[in-house]
Amino acid sequence: MAKLFINEKNKKGHINPEIYGHFSEHLGRCIYEGLYVGEDSDIPNVNGMRKDVVDALKEMQVPVLRWPGGCFADEYHWKDGIGPKESRKKMINTHWGGVVEDNSFGTHEFFELCDQLGCKTYVNGNVGSGTVQEMSEWVEYITFDGVSPMADLRRKNGHEAPWKIDYFGVGNENWGCGGSMTPEYYANLYRRYQTYVRHYDHAAPIKKICCGANVADYFWTEGVLKTCFELPQPNNIPTGYMDGLSLHYYVHPGGWDNKGSATEFDEAVWYTTMAKALYIEELIVRHGAIMDQYDPEKKIGMIVDEWGCWFDVEPGTNPGFLYQQNTMRDALVAGVSLNIFNKHCDRVKMACIAQMVNVLQSVILTEGPKMILTPTYHIFHMYKHHQGAELVESCIEDNRMIGVDDACKVPFLDESVSVDRDGYVNVTLANLSTDEDAPVEMSFMELLPKEITAAVLKGEMHAHNTFDEPENVKEENFTAYEVKDKKVCFTAPAGSVISFRIR
Ligand code: AHR
Repeated sequence: MAKLFINEKNKKGHINPEIYGHFSEHLGRCIYEGLYVGEDSDIPNVNGMRKDVVDALKEMQVPVLRWPGGCFADEYHWKDGIGPKESRKKMINTHWGGVVEDNSFGTHEFFELCDQLGCKTYVNGNVGSGTVQEMSEWVEYITFDGVSPMADLRRKNGHEAPWKIDYFGVGNENWGCGGSMTPEYYANLYRRYQTYVRHYDHAAPIKKICCGANVADYFWTEGVLKTCFELPQPNNIPTGYMDGLSLHYYVHPGGWDNKGSATEFDEAVWYTTMAKALYIEELIVRHGAIMDQYDPEKKIGMIVDEWGCWFDVEPGTNPGFLYQQNTMRDALVAGVSLNIFNKHCDRVKMACIAQMVNVLQSVILTEGPKMILTPTYHIFHMYKHHQGAELVESCIEDNRMIGVDDACKVPFLDESVSVDRDGYVNVTLANLSTDEDAPVEMSFMELLPKEITAAVLKGEMHAHNTFDEPENVKEENFTAYEVKDKKVCFTAPAGSVISFRIR
């Protein structure tokens, strides 16, 4: 029997709600069809936003949304996406399928969506093909309250009051699709561009995100920080140029050139996928160690603003649209990744799964007027009480390594635990085995559990929801536990995730 010890008295750090963030790009059917159908659509909508999708996302609790890309961000010219829709410029979305982008979803629509979701805003600016002036004017258009050319243009386009930008990304993947730059070259551009991301509302300064590394590119992290991180001055006034440094990491079980099917895989591939998901912890630790050299007080957040499973596209769909199904395997990847982010909440301040709807590891898939919730949706829903809670100490004794071949073993169980402001202890526990149930004895330092609610997400490893069978995989109440003094005993089914809320 595995023993899960929880010291609910030992608080280890604040879990920023933004760790449960999302990403929406002008890619495939994420924005168009997935989130936005336009005011004239037969699909029920509020100001063009799909009502079914927005309602489900609100129930899941979205803390922050990143937009407009991704690679799209560095070829997006925001002025094409404002003003009367019929006269908005059309462009080719060269990165994603070469389709026509009609710009009917632009700045006003993004802020409307975030308003409906009740979430913070993360706007990603264009460094790769845009100018300093363009970026600077976008910030002025969105956030300036006084009289100025851009603020007046916003008013002319129907929005009197400024909006709030919570986070602003100065470029995306500038080592690759965002301009193929070297770290030093990008970092110098970062210094320059970010200067003009003005804080018009001093009470609500914009948090600036610098483009960080891809996977294990420690050379990039070092090169960028060396060039554009600035230490506090002798008078102790920090003059750092950034609030966050991004990290992108996707799980491809067979590597970039052999991503594999989203729904057809064997046990060996299951365990490889788990091992690759767990690898993000090493990336956080090693990039974090470089950040520590410049920022030992951890004032800069690590912003994992793209993560998740990236498999082959669903057969028969546009290869440029990155549409993939989502199984129990994705649920486990989400479960362990979020546990890792929680456990590194001293450094990880935001994470955005890629992407919100119909692209890569989505929480929602749509087909015309139909919508399904994926297994990953249920994980985010089950984990939502961690948002804004305090991480507490936990560990698992007798946690064996499992797998089908010696070269690839993963821990049997994976957990994270927090205490929220209502005094509930939130436990999320994943059983990574494809076939072995796990008897668990969970014990607390002092807590005598009196009130428990629990949910489980389980199913055969390939289980997933379809438009014909939308409830194959869904969250269920979990009641098969026994309480003895400070202990709760239960069996975690093979390939499952369980969430407890206890006080
Ligand atoms: O999420 C899909 C793409 O992956 C993004 O546009 C890009 O930033 C990354 O390479």
